[in-house]
Amino acid sequence: MIRKIAVFIALGSLVLTAMAQDKPKVERVSPTPTSAADGKAMFKQYCAPCHGMDAKGNGPAAPALKAAPADLTQLSARNGGKFPENKVFGSIKGEVGLAAHGSKEMPIWGDVFRSMSRSEGETQLRITNLTNYVRSLQAK
Ligand code: HEC
Repeated sequence: MIRKIAVFIALGSLVLTAMAQDKPKVERVSPTPTSAADGKAMFKQYCAPCHGMDAKGNGPAAPALKAAPADLTQLSARNGGKFPENKVFGSIKGEVGLAAHGSKEMPIWGDVFRSMSRSEGETQLRITNLTNYVRSLQAK
């Protein structure tokens, strides 16, 4: 019997479909628009499927990926206690090379956000608010 898990991941996402004992398969569908002002809502919609709502890297789509999604709560801890703002912004936008971000598996969020935003300013605002939300998740 086929059990379908539909997880709307970002980017539109990715829809996860899984055969009972199989690895989930991730497919991309169109992105669900969110408010550019709401970092948490964007995180839930676009990031949590892989990184998990707690950002520790255990989202429902994680088993389908070749690379493990990063634990986004440890970014400051792994950077000498300072939140690596520019690197996070660049990773989301797609300017900083990452194996998964920007590969076939991982969309370049700058392009995705541009496709749903009315202006370049709105695209930047989305990435800024997501970066600030990730900052708020840092382990103390
Ligand atoms: C399809 C799965 C997937 C989605 C969706 C996803 N990511 Fe990632 N992300 C990954 C993977 C896998 C890595 C690890 C890649 C690597 O280190 O090469 C990663 C790495 C990162 C990094 C770099 C962490 C570091 O150690 O420097 C950041 C920042 C990040 N993701 C933020 C986000 C944000 C914000 C979103 C939502 C807009 C998001 N990701 C959505 C899979 C995903």
